[in-house]
Amino acid sequence: MQKKLSYSFLYLSTVVFTTALLSNEITQEKFDKIYTTKNNSKHIFSQQITGLNNEQIDKFIEGKSFYRIPWVEAPSATTARDGLGPLFNANTCISCHPKNGKGSIYNENGSISRSYIIRVSIPSNGSKQHQDILKFNGFVSEKTYGSQISINGSLNVPFEAKPLVAYKDITVTYPDGEIVTLKQPLHGVDHQLTNLNYGKLHEKVSLSSRLAPALLGLGLLEQITDEQILANEDIDDINKDGISGKANIVYSPQDKTFKVGRYTYKASAPSVIHQSAAAANNDMSLTSPLFPNENCTNAQENCLKAPKGDAMRADTPFDLPIHRLESIAFYLKNLKIPKSTITEFEGEKLFAQIGCIKCHIPSFNLANSYKVKPFTDMLLHDMGEGLSDGRVEFKATEQEWRTAPLWGIGKHKLTLKKEPELLHDGRAKTIEEAILWHGGEALKIKNDFMSLTKEQRNKVINYIKEL
Ligand code: HEC
Ligand code: HEC
Repeated sequence: MQKKLSYSFLYLSTVVFTTALLSNEITQEKFDKIYTTKNNSKHIFSQQITGLNNEQIDKFIEGKSFYRIPWVEAPSATTARDGLGPLFNANTCISCHPKNGKGSIYNENGSISRSYIIRVSIPSNGSKQHQDILKFNGFVSEKTYGSQISINGSLNVPFEAKPLVAYKDITVTYPDGEIVTLKQPLHGVDHQLTNLNYGKLHEKVSLSSRLAPALLGLGLLEQITDEQILANEDIDDINKDGISGKANIVYSPQDKTFKVGRYTYKASAPSVIHQSAAAANNDMSLTSPLFPNENCTNAQENCLKAPKGDAMRADTPFDLPIHRLESIAFYLKNLKIPKSTITEFEGEKLFAQIGCIKCHIPSFNLANSYKVKPFTDMLLHDMGEGLSDGRVEFKATEQEWRTAPLWGIGKHKLTLKKEPELLHDGRAKTIEEAILWHGGEALKIKNDFMSLTKEQRNKVINYIKEL
C-alpha cells in the first residue's frame, strides 16, 4: 500500500461545501463542533450538523420526510407517496436503517428482519450481451427474480421469497490456547431462501446476504477526493506488504460516466444520491431518473401489469424526481457523526503496529485540511474465501469488500439497544469475531492480532469501541 496522500488543492474550487459556515476559514476545533455530536441517546445518528441556513434546513427537513414517511401501494388516495411496489422489501428507508443506525438480522419476535436482504446474480456467460450488462450494471441479474429478493408483494403480486439464516459453528484457537466459536453462514438456495414463489432460481445463482449498515458520515466521505482514494491503491502490491487496495470503478447513470465507487459493502455506488435512488428502486420499487424502471422482471407478468404510483405524475413520470432524491441525499449528508474520545492509547498503538491501519486508514484531510477520521481507505480488499459471497459488482470480485469504516462502531448499541451484528452479513456478534473473520490480504495482520496477549487484544478492541 502506498502512503502518498495527495492533497489536491485544485479540488478546492470544485468542492461544494455542505454548510455555509465552511466558506470561511475555520479551525479544526470548530469544524469538529459542526460535524460531531456528544449526544449519547438513541438519536445519536440523527443530529443535524450545525450552521445550516434556513434554506438548507428546509431541504434537510424535506429530505428527512421522504426518508422516514412510509410509502403506500398504488392505487391510493395518497397520490404523493403511492409508488411502493408491486414488489418491495420495506415501505420506508428507516425500516431498514432504524434511527439511521444499523439493522439487525432478527426482529424481537425471532423472525428475520427486513433489514437483512438477499442480493441475486448469476455468472456472466461471456456473451456480448452479458459483457455490456457487466459494464454498465456491474453484475448479471437472475432472469426471473432480478437483482434482489423482494419479501413483499402488493395485491395479486406474490412476494418473491423469504430469507433464511443458517450457520455452522467453527472454532478458532489463539496461540495462547483460548478458543472462540464463530458462526459460519451456510450458502446456497436451500440455506438462504424459502417460499420461492416464482419457481427455481438459475442453477449457478449467487445469493449475497447483506445487513443494512448505519448511515454515518456520508457527507464527509463524499468530500474525500477521488485522487486521495486512488493514491492509496496498490493493485499489484508493488510495495510487497501483502495488501493491494483497489478502488471500485462504477457506472453512474446520473453522470453517464464511470466514477470511483464509495458506498455499499462493495463500493458500487459513487454517491449518496446514487445509492439513495438505488435503494428506493431495489428495496421499495420507487422509480427515479437514475433508476427509471419498476422492479419487475419480464418473467413477472402480474408485477408488470400492477397499477403504478401516481406520485407527482403531473410534472414527472417518476416517484422520486431529482429534487426529491437530492433532498434525501442532502438530509443523509448533513448528519453529525459521534465525537470520538480516545483513552485507550496502548490499544491505539497496537492497532497501528500490527497494521490494521493499512486498510482502516485513521484519517483523511479534506480540502482546507480539515481532518476526518473514518478508519477506512474506501478501497476494496480481498478478504479471503471465508468472507466470499460469490458475487461480482463492477471491479469488486467475490472475495473483495470495501474496508468497513470503524467510526462510531461503539455507538451502535444506542440505536439498537443491543450489541451490533458486524461484517456485511452481520455474522460477527462481537468486534473480536469480526477481526477473526479477516483473511486474504488481512491474514498476516489477523495472525499478528492473534499472537498478542489476551490483555493486548482487549486493548485493541476497547480502542475500536472509542473511534
Ligand atoms: C430493505 C432494507 C433497506 C431499505 C428499505 C433501504 N435500505 Fe439502504 N441499505 C440496505 C442495505 C442492505 C445496504 C447495503 C447494500 C449493499 O452493500 O449492497 C444499504 C445501504 C445504504 C447506503 C450506503 C451506506 C454506506 O455507508 O455505504 C445508503 C446511503 C442507503 N442505504 C440509503 C437508503 C435510503 C435513502 C433508503 C430509502 C430510499 C434506503 N437506504 C432504504 C438496506 C435497505
Ligand atoms: C486488508 C485490509 C484490512 C485489514 C488489514 C484489516 N481490515 Fe478490518 N475490515 C476490512 C474489510 C474489507 C472489512 C469489511 C468486511 C466485510 O464486511 O465482510 C473489515 C471489517 C472490520 C470490522 C467490522 C466492522 C463492521 O462495522 O462490520 C472490524 C471491527 C475490523 N475490520 C477491525 C480490524 C482490525 C482490528 C484489524 C487489524 C487486526 C483489521 N480490521 C485489519 C479490511 C481490513
